[in-house]
Amino acid sequence: MLSIDPTQIATKDLHQYILAAVAPRPIAFASTISADGVPNLAPYSFFNAFSSNPPILIFSSNRRVANNTTKDTLKNVEDTGEVVINVVSHNISRQMALTSIEYGPEVNEFIKAGFTALPSERVRPFRVAESPVQMECVVDQILPLGEGGGAGNLIFCKIVMMHIAENILTETGRIDPHKIDLMGRMGRFYYARASGDAVEEIVQEVTRIGIGFDGLPPGIRHSKVLTGNDLAHLASLPSLPSHEEALALVGEDERAQKAIAGPDSSTELQRYAKEVLGQNDVLRGAALAVLSV
Ligand SMILES: Cc1cc2nc3c(=O)[nH]c(=O)nc-3n(C[C@H](O)[C@H](O)[C@H](O)COP(=O)(O)O)c2cc1C
Repeated sequence: MLSIDPTQIATKDLHQYILAAVAPRPIAFASTISADGVPNLAPYSFFNAFSSNPPILIFSSNRRVANNTTKDTLKNVEDTGEVVINVVSHNISRQMALTSIEYGPEVNEFIKAGFTALPSERVRPFRVAESPVQMECVVDQILPLGEGGGAGNLIFCKIVMMHIAENILTETGRIDPHKIDLMGRMGRFYYARASGDAVEEIVQEVTRIGIGFDGLPPGIRHSKVLTGNDLAHLASLPSLPSHEEALALVGEDERAQKAIAGPDSSTELQRYAKEVLGQNDVLRGAALAVLSV
């Protein structure tokens, strides 16, 4: 392991390690307006949602590591107390990156990056028409985290109006991850596109108490075939099937019967269990695993 004491490394290097490790991060595409009325648009990936009641988003406008200067967005929210946070989908990601250029405060990045400024309903900053979700916010508080280069300024944003494009909704009115097609920021110039094969469903009931890893028999727990993720499927069950129940669950399955009768039955059954667990068939996977020990 490379172990890093933050006090013993240059801020610019620590910054890169943090950005690459805490990733992918959602991107707040922050629209503000200056005291004298100039629209401003910039991406911020030190960003997340922290509460839904009250509905609070927080992003951080940092002091530049290179020269310890502050950014237009921070000045604008200090002066006006308002911001619209738009989300960044794949189809606008290159245009979004353009707005991160250090244009002066007199420059309107909507124009520079070819975005359409849509009037908001509750605040003065414009919405980005091309973004599928736009959240109009008032700034609750601004919390500076330090005075040196790289120091964050946490901007607490309370949503006062949320707009969602209908074409990203499922038939039941929820946001479809594939349709919203969000981009996440990683280290350096890397991004992650959160749709298609990159999206995985992990269903974990939280009220059904699972047996846990410590509840698995040693022959399963220390398997050379089953990985941590495979074992987690089994550990999520309230109990494992008994040997008899496992035999009944496997039934006449030819591959299982062959494995049971074969020379290396434990490994073969666990290989089969691994495949079945990969298809999210947890009960049959558990049965095969039980028969392997
Ligand atoms: C995807 C992306 C995410 C960014 N995230 C942040 C961030 O979280 N905090 C920050 O201070 N700068 C961040 N930046 C850099 C700012 O966008 C950049 O400094 C910009 O010029 C600030 O614009 P402004 O002065 O109009 O606010 C990010 C840039 C990109 C491309």
